[in-house]
Amino acid sequence: TRHFIIDCDTAEDDIMSLFALIKNGISVEALTIVEGNISYEQEINNALWALEFIGKDVKVYPGSDRPLVKPFRSVEEVHGKGGIGDEIVKPSKLKPENKRAMDAIVELADRYAGELEFLAISPLTNLALAYLKDKSIVDKIKKVWVMGGTAWGRGNITPVAEYNIWVDPDAAKIIFNAGFDITMVPWDVIVNYPINDELWNKIKSMNTKMSQFYIKIYSHYRDYSMKNEKIGGTPHPDLITTSIAIDRSIIKKSERHYVDIENCDCLTRGMTVIDYLDLWKKKANTEVVYEIHFDKFLNLLFDLLKWF
Ligand code: BDR
Ligand code: CA
Repeated sequence: TRHFIIDCDTAEDDIMSLFALIKNGISVEALTIVEGNISYEQEINNALWALEFIGKDVKVYPGSDRPLVKPFRSVEEVHGKGGIGDEIVKPSKLKPENKRAMDAIVELADRYAGELEFLAISPLTNLALAYLKDKSIVDKIKKVWVMGGTAWGRGNITPVAEYNIWVDPDAAKIIFNAGFDITMVPWDVIVNYPINDELWNKIKSMNTKMSQFYIKIYSHYRDYSMKNEKIGGTPHPDLITTSIAIDRSIIKKSERHYVDIENCDCLTRGMTVIDYLDLWKKKANTEVVYEIHFDKFLNLLFDLLKWF
């Protein structure tokens, strides 16, 4: 069994990522919540509500509700006020844990030392706090999968920065320079693999509970991205990253490089600076994903939509 922590800012794509891990037999030891996308309280509600929908009792740990240094900026315009559109949902039974995310991360890293994998589909604040508390987690966490940054400097929150890294560039700088084994799936890579009209309509006609749930939670995001992102469909940054974590043969092309993060309050805040020519002669700290096998990703997505 593989053991995962999933760290998220619970919008539509984060929710499907959680489902994908569970569906594929991965043991999700914790869901840690970090600031991002929408209000913090709604992120927690969404996580518990989603777990009720699939009938799983994964432990949900509240973590940081703001970046380490910078002021927080949410993106309700992208995901809707509720993160799954404008509807505000609440769980009826499940409750979050009392323990904080950073404490849970440190404890689980101990318990599953050498085996634990960390899926970060959100800003890196919780992981940075856990690391600042106990630096030995670097050697205990086997892999950090990151949805974030850009490969070629085409961002979504600024022209050159991707949202997850931009929200807390100070946390990201700590994590990228800490010595973790990181695989990074950049925003400007995943925009090449949108769910277009044809695929969207195919999902709409599926009539499973899961496909209906998918259409419900992605509709707002789809409308937003069709109008604003100019990529001909709905992007799936978190779910593509998760799929790669589940089955790394989905990666078609990746390279190892030294990556650093710009954390100034400046034009390029949050940019992932990739030393692709090895000009700095620093040890590569990141596997950067450049291309994926889209057909394999779609197989994983459609299997998930047929789950029930
Ligand atoms: C990332 O930011 C969030 O809005 C998404 O869930 C994804 O993790 C994309 O930039
Ligand atoms: Ca996310």
